[in-house]
Amino acid sequence: MERELAAVYDELKQRFREGESSVFLSPESMSFLRERAREQAATKPTSPAPEKKPAASSAPASPKAAPSTPKPKEAVPEVPDAPEVTLSGDSRREQWENLRQRVGEDAWCRSQVKPGKKVVFGVGSLEADIFFCGEAPGADEEVQGEPFVGKAGQLLTKIIQAMGLDRDRVYIGNIMNYRPPMPGPVGNRPPDPTEMAYCLPYLRAQLAIVQPKVVVALGKTAVDGLLGRDPKRRMTRIRGQWHRFEEIPLLPTFHPSYLLRNNSLATKRQVWEDMLAVMEEVGLPVSDKQRGFFQKG
Ligand code: URA
Repeated sequence: MERELAAVYDELKQRFREGESSVFLSPESMSFLRERAREQAATKPTSPAPEKKPAASSAPASPKAAPSTPKPKEAVPEVPDAPEVTLSGDSRREQWENLRQRVGEDAWCRSQVKPGKKVVFGVGSLEADIFFCGEAPGADEEVQGEPFVGKAGQLLTKIIQAMGLDRDRVYIGNIMNYRPPMPGPVGNRPPDPTEMAYCLPYLRAQLAIVQPKVVVALGKTAVDGLLGRDPKRRMTRIRGQWHRFEEIPLLPTFHPSYLLRNNSLATKRQVWEDMLAVMEEVGLPVSDKQRGFFQKG
C-alpha cells in the first residue's frame, strides 16, 4: 500500500514542480485516498505513551483501552529481473506477431492485471517513421488492450491527425505493458523504476522491429524509461530538445494528459511546435495553415 501512496505523492510533487498548483480529484478518488491514509495511519506504530502507574484495581482493562494490534503490511510482490528478448521470425510482421504473443503470455505482466483486464502491446504501422511512446495503459486501455484509447488517447489521435497522418501510419507504444496496479478500482500511478525496467526489453524490441526515424517521448515517465531516470530532469526544460535513444532521434514533449489538465494556448503551442519539428525531421510537408496552429492573434 505504501508503494501506491508514495507513487501518488511523487506524481503530485512532479506536477507541482511543473507549475500546477491544484489537481481535480473525483469524490471517489478522494474517499479512496482518505481510506488508504487512515489505514496507513492505523498501521504506524504510535509514539510510546507515558508510563502509567498500575491501577490499584485488578479489574480487566476496558476493550477500548486495549492496544490495537497493527495490521500486517500487505506483501508487495517483487518485480522479477527483466526478460531476455530476441526477435524471431523472417519478416517484421512475423517478429511483431511473435513478440505480441510473448508479451500477452508474460506471466509477470498477467499477474499484475486484474481479472478481465488486458496486458497492452503497441499498435500501428510496422513501417512507421514516427514512434509515439507513452507511459502505461490506463483504465480504458487495459479494457480494450490497446494503447491510448481513453481521453488522453483521443487527444493524441487528434494531434496525429493535425499532422496530416492517422493512427495507422504511426506506431504507438508505452513504457509499460500493464497498468501499474492500485489496490482499488480507481486511480493511476506512475510505474516505479523496477516495473519500467521489466517492460523495457519489450519496448526496445518493438523499436528494433519498426526502426522509426523519430521517437516522440510523451511525458517524463517515457523520457525516464528511454533515457534513464534523472530526478533533476524537468519536462518544461527538456521538451522540444532533441535527444537520442541509441541511434534514433528522440523528442520529448508533454504527455497528452498534461495537455488535458493544462490546456493553455501557450502549452498547446509548445506541443504543436514539437510536432512541427517531428514532421520536419521525417520529411513530412508542413502547410502554412499547420504552421499557424495555436498562434496568438
Ligand atoms: N497514457 C499513456 O501513457 N499510455 C496510454 O496508453 C494511455 C494513457
